[in-house]
Amino acid sequence: MKKKAFLFDLDGVIVDTAKFHYLAWRNLAKEMNFNFTEEQNELFKGVSRVKSLEILLDLANYRATEEQKTRWLKQKNMEYLTFIDGMDEREILPDVVRVLDFLHSKDQGVALGSASKNARPILKKLDLLSKFHAIVDGNDVTAAKPDPEVFLKGGEALQIERSHCIVFEDSIAGIQAAKNAGMLSIGIGDTKTLGEADYVFRDFTEINTDFLINLIDK
Ligand code: BG6
Ligand code: MG
Repeated sequence: MKKKAFLFDLDGVIVDTAKFHYLAWRNLAKEMNFNFTEEQNELFKGVSRVKSLEILLDLANYRATEEQKTRWLKQKNMEYLTFIDGMDEREILPDVVRVLDFLHSKDQGVALGSASKNARPILKKLDLLSKFHAIVDGNDVTAAKPDPEVFLKGGEALQIERSHCIVFEDSIAGIQAAKNAGMLSIGIGDTKTLGEADYVFRDFTEINTDFLINLIDK
């Protein structure tokens, strides 16, 4: 059996936090008198906090001062963290733990590759820290997805070459980042949005053992 690296995004892949990011941005958008839709939110997935605010200001056609931007970034994160506070294991997406445990049982490399600066506290709260050999998050990178940095660092941390890395992602930017890294990409979500990925599954319940074994042996 070969050794591969499996790199997991966090928000919307491991845990159902994408909806909390959306709610917090939507509430901020209201202050700009802007109606932020779920469709527009697809562009925010995988994108860093600072970049997300820039996109929102553009969409809302709103000119903000640097001071206001800093205040809004803080406000958005504080609201997001209140949602996170109320979260428990039920927010872990279906069959994620089954897949993580299976990969561990086959002695595969498992790492987190997330844009979030809140990744570690979220994993800790959900008691998932021990499921990862390495964690690369928003505090470790300078370039945001679709730049490949986060996944390249994940592969490096596990000492596995990029052609042996497999990325699970729910965002357009994240699938592009995996491609830019020269890694196999697996979209978690709908085919319409994630059509660029090598494979797309609605969620991990659709990913069976045979599929994972094939990825390992490829
Ligand atoms: C990504 C999310 O995982 O992390 C984005 O998909 C989010 O929506 C980004 O903006 C940064 O997260 P955080 O927790 O640092 O604000
Ligand atoms: Mg995501």
